[in-house]
Amino acid sequence: MPPVDYRNFEKVLLKHADHPDSAELDYYLSHGGYEGARKALTQHEPGQVIALVKASNLRGRGGAGFPCGLKWSFVPKSTPKPKYLVVNADESEPGTFKDRIILERDPHQLIEGILIAAWAIQASTAYCYIRGEFVKGYRVMERAIQEAYDRGILGPNVLGTGFRCDLTMHRGAGAYICGEETGLLSSLEGKRGLPKIKPPFPAVEGLFRCPTVVNNVETLANLPHILTRGVDWFKSIGPDKGPGPKLLCVSGHVERPGTYEVPMGINLKDLIFDLCGGIWKGRELKAVIPGGSSAKVLTAAECDVAMDFDSLMAKGTMLGSGGVIVMDDSTDMVDALYNILRFYHHESCGQCTPCREGTGWLEKIVGRIRAGRGRMEDIDLCLDICDMMVGKTICVLADAAAFPCESILRKFRGEFEERVRKGQGFTRKVLTGGPLVQPGAISAHNQERRIEAAHHG
Ligand SMILES: Cc1cc2nc3c(=O)[nH]c(=O)nc-3n(C[C@H](O)[C@H](O)[C@H](O)COP(=O)(O)O)c2cc1C
Ligand code: SF4
Repeated sequence: MPPVDYRNFEKVLLKHADHPDSAELDYYLSHGGYEGARKALTQHEPGQVIALVKASNLRGRGGAGFPCGLKWSFVPKSTPKPKYLVVNADESEPGTFKDRIILERDPHQLIEGILIAAWAIQASTAYCYIRGEFVKGYRVMERAIQEAYDRGILGPNVLGTGFRCDLTMHRGAGAYICGEETGLLSSLEGKRGLPKIKPPFPAVEGLFRCPTVVNNVETLANLPHILTRGVDWFKSIGPDKGPGPKLLCVSGHVERPGTYEVPMGINLKDLIFDLCGGIWKGRELKAVIPGGSSAKVLTAAECDVAMDFDSLMAKGTMLGSGGVIVMDDSTDMVDALYNILRFYHHESCGQCTPCREGTGWLEKIVGRIRAGRGRMEDIDLCLDICDMMVGKTICVLADAAAFPCESILRKFRGEFEERVRKGQGFTRKVLTGGPLVQPGAISAHNQERRIEAAHHG
């Protein structure tokens, strides 16, 4: 694939996001709003919309990158059960903050995408499951939904076509696992947000045991543009097997962090060193997690890579949720990994033993390495635990914890070994009454703090 011309790329999803009226229905309508939905509902049969989206090669932007049209095609056509469309607006992956911009600044773009998807799968009821902390996004969406009902865009007679579509917001209560689609559906049903074994996949048996499509906010926001500008236009942006505009959230040690809309396939180095102004304080790049904290880490030497599903997969990592976490050469990878592992242990729902115990053990063992109480064999022990977690659980949260752990341990092993060695030296000093502390006088907590101070000193 030739290099992507990101400098001349005209924004699509965030084109209007900076305008003060971008959330208003009148503003949206005056810029061609709801023409995509009108076209879908008046000029295409539902099956044709599915075929169109399949042909566009739009892949899901929520994490897994599953082809959108293909997912829709799994919904049974003839069934007495109602069908549901569920919007995943949980945005819970660490390092990810893209969907909130659409929710807060361009809600009608999302509602239009919902109408197109609902028509394609013939769902008359849609729910938008929004992260509880997104108070502003929730209020903006509620207002936009009311506007859409008032003007006949939602409700019993969408755009005068006779198609019914109702849309209800549902707020989450702050669990990462409720971003996982089956956990989300459990939560939406009023139960604890526990993931379910697949198959059956939600498209066949989802919400209230009825066929359900779960799509991410950004995925749906692409639909109006595919309908109005066409499949060829969409496929002209980036790689053929997963094209389109892409929102990338850059956080960490860059001069200009933020959400960037870029053509799929932009080189990671161009993103960091050109668009984001390079590494802050004139420091050096050390590592990047390219797709939210669940993705495997890339070393600085591996960052010459196109940001698209297949190129990142070929490098052993993933585009995931598009959360690009940049770390400079001052980053302590033992601390960074410990921070990630604490999160996954806290968020494991506890149903599966490899996940419940594995995330706990990883946190504990990396924690003791960090505190200077680790053993050299702990590193391989962690790698063994990771191996026992991947692919062995109900949902992929276990994999999401194991991937960054395994890759950071392998690629930055020296830092972990160094921390173990330093800790062993310190323990010897303590045992022999060395100068750092009075051995008899320390509690475990103080010991940890002093060890840390000794390392930093
Ligand atoms: C632990 C976990 C958390 C997830 N969190 C989110 C999330 O916050 N938002 C999201 O859209 N997808 C999330 N996903 C992915 C969803 O399960 C699902 O694949 C996605 O919503 C499908 O939409 P798409 O096909 O449009 O990408 C998560 C997956 C896992 C395993
Ligand atoms: S993998 Fe973890 S989060 Fe997912 S269902 Fe099992 S215990 Fe719960």
